Amino acid sequence: MIKNCKKALSLVLALTVMICCFSPALAQEATPTDAGEYVTSDTQPFRISLTVNGDTASERGFTWFTKADTDSLVVINEAPDAVIEYNDVFEWEGNYCHKAKVKGLEGGKEYTYTVGSAQVRSNEGKFRTDDGDSELNFIVVADVQASSDENFRRGAETVEASFSVMPDAEFIANLGDFTNDSTNEEWDYYAKNFDPISLKTSLVPIAGNHDGLGVWHWFENMFNLDDSESVQNLNGVNYSFDYGNAHFAVINTNDVLSVSLAQLKWLRNDMNSTDKDWKIVFAHKSPYTLGKDGKWPDALYLQKSLTKVCDECGVDLVMSGHDHQYLRTKPLKANKLNDNGTTYILSGTAGTKRYQIRSFLENSFTDVDKIAAMTVQRDGYANYFNGTDFESTKDTNVGGCFNCLSIKDGTLTLNSYILSDELKDENGGRIITNIDTYTVTKETGKNIATFSGDNTTSAAEFYLGVVPSFCALAVYTFTGWLPRFLSIVPDIIRVYIEEDTF
Ligand SMILES: [Fe+2]
Repeated sequence: MIKNCKKALSLVLALTVMICCFSPALAQEATPTDAGEYVTSDTQPFRISLTVNGDTASERGFTWFTKADTDSLVVINEAPDAVIEYNDVFEWEGNYCHKAKVKGLEGGKEYTYTVGSAQVRSNEGKFRTDDGDSELNFIVVADVQASSDENFRRGAETVEASFSVMPDAEFIANLGDFTNDSTNEEWDYYAKNFDPISLKTSLVPIAGNHDGLGVWHWFENMFNLDDSESVQNLNGVNYSFDYGNAHFAVINTNDVLSVSLAQLKWLRNDMNSTDKDWKIVFAHKSPYTLGKDGKWPDALYLQKSLTKVCDECGVDLVMSGHDHQYLRTKPLKANKLNDNGTTYILSGTAGTKRYQIRSFLENSFTDVDKIAAMTVQRDGYANYFNGTDFESTKDTNVGGCFNCLSIKDGTLTLNSYILSDELKDENGGRIITNIDTYTVTKETGKNIATFSGDNTTSAAEFYLGVVPSFCALAVYTFTGWLPRFLSIVPDIIRVYIEEDTF
């Protein structure tokens, strides 16, 4: 309901513009939560996350919750004297939020840790710090967007499968929509199923539009992230970090504007401040999609605005989610095919809610000749784009999607997979199918940092920029989105009547 209201609000807004982690070592008294028996003690740490925060060679952020107001303690087993800065514990939606940041770790070293209080500890987690060399493996998933314990479990099974393909992943990026309605119960189901995964490696979380529905700041309170240079946001955090010979920026696309002028300036400065060989952007919403959300102004606005910054700054790869299908574009620059351009990947859903192709978006919102690979799932079978049409089918392509990426010097390789819902191999394990492989090479040592100033955006600058940001969106809504949208209205009505989907 909230989602529908938000969509309705989004549409009304657009029209208005036109017109004008897991269980404790020591459980105490039983206090079941909405998520059943996951939390059995008021002092048990739960919703545990270890996030990239600042220097990936020496720093990490921790977050966990307790039902009662306890003290906070992080223990890094291999670095008992590490500097750990604790935030004040605060109440959030009926639970107590604990945050801490560790500094001064050694690069290229594996650490184990527990969180909690002096009396009650979590299970042991582990992570590896960046060794600074030019090899990097990482996993990217998106859109679990579950409500029930069962669907969170199935999403977690897909993400677990990614570690069977890439057990040495140095981090996992989650492109957002961790939950469907961002309620306590859903976050508890998420944590119940994902805390074991969270204890395996570092997390790079990206906010989705479902991760704060109705309550601002849910996402930033769930994870401990670096917002020191960030622009102000209500439903997400913009941040960046280096890992190996790559620079990553996370851009929030979930506020009233899918991306503001202040965010674009921040991203431009951020990407121009690095001389790393690879530049990668993570965002929740995708500029290129044939899914049901591709028809709204925000996707098309990203196609105009975000891509421009990527062109200017030489971004190699943009990975996003939101529309639950897998799509990889050919390299693009100025919205045209260009071998030196940016590749955009709509990452597929690790969850169970999968979107079909909205064919009325073809060549009006996303040009088919820009698509290099695509996999879309339906009930009982899946079709994929074979370069000519979308009707080729593969039975194994029905399941949760995950992406494994490797960088080695001047070569970046993406392999995307589906964990079959039902099909099993001769050993009884569910089949994992490689649905796409993409390799790009480049000459290293060519990027030059051209920005060295302070990239912090003040609250005053951000809020003063809201009006011109809104005007920029309004102009594009009138001139770019509206004519295309009106041209597909008959098709939208037809699909609504025939398939009862919008
Ligand atoms: Fe979304």
